[in-house]
Amino acid sequence: MGDELILGIESSCDETAAAVVAGGRRILSSVVASQVAIHRKYGGVVPELASREHLRQIVPVVREAVEQAGIKLSDVSAVAVTRGPGLVGALLVGVTYGKVLSYALGKPLIAVNHLEGHVHAVLLEAHIAGKSPELPAVCLIVSGGHTLLYRVKTDGARNGIGPFSYDRIGGTRDDAAGEAYDKVAKMLALGYPGGPVIDHLAADGDAKKIAFAAPKMSGNRFDFSFSGIKTAVLYHLKRNPQMQPEIEARQTALARGERSADGLRALTSQETLDLVASFQHAVVEDLLTRTLAAAEQCAVPTVFVSGGVAANSALRKAFETEGARRGIATFFPSRALSTDNAAMIAAAGFARFAAGERENLLLNAEANLPLG
Ligand code: KG4
Ligand code: ZN
Repeated sequence: MGDELILGIESSCDETAAAVVAGGRRILSSVVASQVAIHRKYGGVVPELASREHLRQIVPVVREAVEQAGIKLSDVSAVAVTRGPGLVGALLVGVTYGKVLSYALGKPLIAVNHLEGHVHAVLLEAHIAGKSPELPAVCLIVSGGHTLLYRVKTDGARNGIGPFSYDRIGGTRDDAAGEAYDKVAKMLALGYPGGPVIDHLAADGDAKKIAFAAPKMSGNRFDFSFSGIKTAVLYHLKRNPQMQPEIEARQTALARGERSADGLRALTSQETLDLVASFQHAVVEDLLTRTLAAAEQCAVPTVFVSGGVAANSALRKAFETEGARRGIATFFPSRALSTDNAAMIAAAGFARFAAGERENLLLNAEANLPLG
């Protein structure tokens, strides 16, 4: 077992993706067809539209991944596909196509948990940078659909490649962090998805201007809750009607097709910049505090952060600074590997392929597939 090529297929949410990865580490190609333009006008992912678009994209995306890798489809050693969690109709497109390819090529089929894919996105990036993170680690997976904390364990894993085992430490009780970004962006007419625009605008705001209270929760101190802060932003807007005209101006600009963060910035007051900076500060502090506390409680030397929100600049900076201060090494994927992609699925699939795992054609999508 060494440098085998794995074809990865990902279709759990609103990205149709395929990739070819050698030896679980070297990315030969990674193609992502995003559906953002389709879901934008609804302010969130519409499951039926997502499935339909995956159907349209899956064949050309896989073909392009194979072409870009400079290989023939018959060169791959296995097909790895996301089994779950995610939207069931979306997952079914990838699972069905993965089964068809595996059968037609006579190559093994490997099922991958999407969340384990996000863990491997961090390892892929570390490998590209020539680093080998020390395991075990605590991994924060933070995206539009998930806010989860896991302990990543090496029991049975080979050479830092995996497969790993996982303990769930905590998760969100309501909204995912990315969902809170998207909902706040919707209230403020900052477009969809909200994370990248808020990230950009927050850099010009005063994060100390509005103090959002940290969520008060009983029970597991490693659980998250973001619906309270989202509601606090809504109340703030109700109390400040002077902010309405600029929201309407941005709505008009969005309807005209304005997409750029700078274009929206030109229609945004300092008051709003301070509001988004304060919102972001509260979210980042909460993610940082609970994750580092989990790492300390688990006595691990390393923290991974992955998922779409891991692209956030304030989050990266906060983890790097505070991690270094506490002697915890922090690892993030590149921005391209933070959001959903199939390279991470192929990498996770390689570890399971190398360990001898095989699926048969009865493999089914599992919307609520747990990790661990
Ligand atoms: O992982 P992803 O591509 O899809 C899933 O949700 O699984 O993550 C998308 C989420 C969206 O909620 C988006 O607003 C958020 O990640 N996001 C960000 C940033 N870039 C994307 N949130 C904060 N800052 C960013 N720079
Ligand atoms: Zn994801």
